[in-house]
Amino acid sequence: MGSKSEVEGKPPHEEIEALQETIRHHEYQYYVLDRPEITDSEYDVLIRRLQKLENDHPELVTLDSPTRRVGGKAREGFVKAAHSSPMLSLDNALDERELREFDRRVREGLKDSPLTYVTELKMDGLSLATRYRNGIFAQALTRGDGLTGEDVTENARTIRSLPLSARNQIREFEVRGETVMNRRAFEALNARREEQALSRFANPRNAAAGSLRVLEPSITASRRLDFYAYMLLVDGRPPFASHWETLDWLERHGFKVNLRRQRCESIDQVIEFCREWEAKREELPYEIDGVVVKVDSIAAQEKLGYTAKAPRWAIAFKYAARQAVTKVEGIEVQVGRTGALTPVAHLTPVAVSGVMVARATLHNEDEIERLGLKIGDLVIVERSGDVIPRIVRVQEQGSYRKPFQMPKECPVCGGKVVREDGEAASRCINTNCPARLKESLLHFASRSVMNIDGMGEAIVDQLVDLGMVHSVADIYELQVEKLLEMDRLGPKSASNLKRNIDKSRLNRLPRVIQALGIRFVGERTSVLLAEHFGSLDKIAKATEEELQQADEIGPRIAQSIALFFKEGRNRELVERLRAAQVSFEYQTRKKPAGPLQGLTFVLTGTLSGLSREEAKARIEAAGGKVSAAVSKKTNFVVAGAEAGSKLDKALSLNISVIDEEKLLEMLK
Ligand code: IVH
Repeated sequence: MGSKSEVEGKPPHEEIEALQETIRHHEYQYYVLDRPEITDSEYDVLIRRLQKLENDHPELVTLDSPTRRVGGKAREGFVKAAHSSPMLSLDNALDERELREFDRRVREGLKDSPLTYVTELKMDGLSLATRYRNGIFAQALTRGDGLTGEDVTENARTIRSLPLSARNQIREFEVRGETVMNRRAFEALNARREEQALSRFANPRNAAAGSLRVLEPSITASRRLDFYAYMLLVDGRPPFASHWETLDWLERHGFKVNLRRQRCESIDQVIEFCREWEAKREELPYEIDGVVVKVDSIAAQEKLGYTAKAPRWAIAFKYAARQAVTKVEGIEVQVGRTGALTPVAHLTPVAVSGVMVARATLHNEDEIERLGLKIGDLVIVERSGDVIPRIVRVQEQGSYRKPFQMPKECPVCGGKVVREDGEAASRCINTNCPARLKESLLHFASRSVMNIDGMGEAIVDQLVDLGMVHSVADIYELQVEKLLEMDRLGPKSASNLKRNIDKSRLNRLPRVIQALGIRFVGERTSVLLAEHFGSLDKIAKATEEELQQADEIGPRIAQSIALFFKEGRNRELVERLRAAQVSFEYQTRKKPAGPLQGLTFVLTGTLSGLSREEAKARIEAAGGKVSAAVSKKTNFVVAGAEAGSKLDKALSLNISVIDEEKLLEMLK
């Protein structure tokens, strides 16, 4: 659907309508159902086409056009507006006993008539009330004090999972729900902020709140928020007989509704649901802080009514805060890939919602100062969106307190440590520091960068400590034989590792750029650079001014890139990666020529499932080459039964030898 030929040749208003429909469909697939049907760049093509048409025909832009999600002009401040009915909060139940107590009150209030509950996950974000007029998104208000909220309409419009149109028979309706940032978006946002030397958000809820309540909608647009609907009001009340029907209606009309919901016939079932998700909460892509339990029947809800603050027909079962109190026993300093020294607190191990925590990051000296933390203090540790727990505050000063001091010398290599003006981090300036090399290797090999499976910490430590690798580029020269010198690495793992290293040369340019470890250049910046310049050489040659021509590259990033390529050692690294045939060109074609692009194979012996011709044809179809003789340029020798001298030659040249099964796997 939505192919260009389908819409071409139509009058503009028809093409705009068709494009809007197509884009809406894909936004729904991607953001609501999490089942994309097209790639991001295909989506971009559609949006750009629509933007162009709308620019040419501004009179045809509709209120609910997907192009309006990009975020309009900044404002001076937020306007306050009254809620159609108060946005109440919920009473809490902190344990099973309190849940049973709630159940007892409800049954008493309903005089023991039949009762069903609906349980939903309690998403940890901020509530939002959205209004639709004639099926078109018209307004969004934050909760505020419950009676009046702030008008964040333009910001909410940028939330892709919030439908801009939800056509139906109802003239005016209100949908309330929770705005959240999922863990991945949160991690990515914090990583990006760190690259830009900005402070991190403490948890996804703060990040969501900070993103929704900014004056510039384009910032909200860049923040990847999600909206989960949980309430529908028409003329101030739910229009259906049950809450369950409301949730179904919302789902049918394009809203994202949490799939983890259940109808429960007894409080025991409710408790079971609560326990089940408490155990599984870490597996969810977003944070939850409990379960909301609601009486399903709207008539029953109305009968039960409200206290001054909260409905009597619902309760929030709150999970225990993921915090604990423990002692800081010491502060260790770790050296990162850029030489940055990160203080890490060593804690008396403590369980935080079922996970033992013994370390917490302290980020930098300023953070320690902000916390007023000294070694020996009792602190509150928290596990939130971050992988590494953090210290929230000092709970009680220790009786023996030792202040922390950033070392003047690198704890790994003894090199000089400096902290530049305006920088939060202190850095080891020795570019040969083994700690930096290890971190660089781990970064290079990590899944989202060059994706070299099997090159984890234990291997990297040995590669550096045994002197097998002095620069990242050295990994492409490692032979299986050499790898076998390492502890706990058998022949099979060694050849797998070699194969994975070899394969990594086929990574696309953005990953290669990211792999270089240039300061401020993360995943997104790498893609933007690759798209703008098309090759690594062009990026390396570009001046700061030229670099700034690329999207989102400011003076700070441009300077960092230019500095990187001025440095002799870095230029040498680039040359050695080129020699290792790492890809430096950006292939924008949708389908790269195949999984074996750039690899040369030699076939030897008799294969069992494939004839020689078939094997050759399939390798070539997958972008690989087949040559007759083994040479240094051969990447893989495929050995069948009774393989002869080619196999010997391959072994003597240290070329990876694979069997037919492996070949078939690689062809997938
Ligand atoms: S219903 C009157 N359902 O939790 C009923 N709330 O203290 C209003 N929340 O402010 C809330 N997930 O922001 C409801 N599935 C859910 C929810 C949910 C999260 C939040 C909401 C509310 C707070 C309750």
